[in-house]
Amino acid sequence: MLHSQKGGPGKTTLSCNIAHELAKRGKKTVLIDLDVAQPTLQHIFNISRTDIKITINDILLGNGILSENNISSTSVTNLSIITASEKIDYGEGLLSLLKSIHEHSYFILHEMMKTLQRMGYQYVVLDCAPGYRIESVHAATIADARIFVLRPSTFSFEGAKEMLQDIYKKLFYQSLNFFIFNQIPPELKDKSLKILHKWKEELERETGIDPIFLGFFNLSYEIIENCIHGEYFFPRKHSLYNQLSCMVDNVTQNIDLLKQDEIISSSQRRINLETANISTKGE
Ligand SMILES: Nc1ncnc2c1ncn2[C@@H]1O[C@H](COP(=O)(O)OP(=O)(O)O)[C@@H](O)[C@H]1O
Ligand SMILES: [Mg+2]
Repeated sequence: MLHSQKGGPGKTTLSCNIAHELAKRGKKTVLIDLDVAQPTLQHIFNISRTDIKITINDILLGNGILSENNISSTSVTNLSIITASEKIDYGEGLLSLLKSIHEHSYFILHEMMKTLQRMGYQYVVLDCAPGYRIESVHAATIADARIFVLRPSTFSFEGAKEMLQDIYKKLFYQSLNFFIFNQIPPELKDKSLKILHKWKEELERETGIDPIFLGFFNLSYEIIENCIHGEYFFPRKHSLYNQLSCMVDNVTQNIDLLKQDEIISSSQRRINLETANISTKGE
């Protein structure tokens, strides 16, 4: 899941590129727009409203069951998408929608992950709303990996520190925590670069969650210009693509290790239980 404390650091851009890269690597992937107040993915993938059979709003509100027949495919092989609804015709509008989503989102998201796994999806990329929105916090609770995105500003840094210490530290400890600084102007002055490195070290050391640093990603005018043409994936020859590809390696390899540990510790638990049974029988 991709999260931030403030809006605009690049969660959606990175989510799309991560999901695109995973799909290109042959992994069956689904990208989900969990930012129900500001839906975006439908436009990025050029999916017309009439082609959408189920949205994350339907799922979160318990109005539809996800299946191979209603999940939206994209023009990218192996990549499916669950969009958020552009049109909020629920109760009294957005506020009433958000309130209803809050009540059950943890269990619903949990169930949705199991359904997607049964459907053969290997990766689920959750593009979350910023801040303390409850469905973002619930997504952080169930995710194997949380990627926190920051901008190079004092408020982004202070906000991140607060959020990682306040919320992430209290969540399920076995999830992996990552962070990334995005939109770094190229050719920074030495003194600014030093501050960024100091922030990086402070986040690594002082948040109590041992987050893994994924890199400083440059602000790119080419990427901004591509958005004018509706092109959101980093071109293969762009330096941001190389950074993204390394980031995907880092996150997926760490998830694989986490899964191996889980298998080992659950078989360890089984062995312990069996030993306990034997000794009880013996008595
Ligand atoms: N590395 C980057 N270089 C240039 N523009 C970027 C970069 N990352 C994100 N952007 C731009 O910043 C804006 C906000 O990005 P977005 O992914 O929508 O952020 P969020 O989802 O966190 O609100 C978008 O216009 C996006 O194109
Ligand atoms: Mg976004």
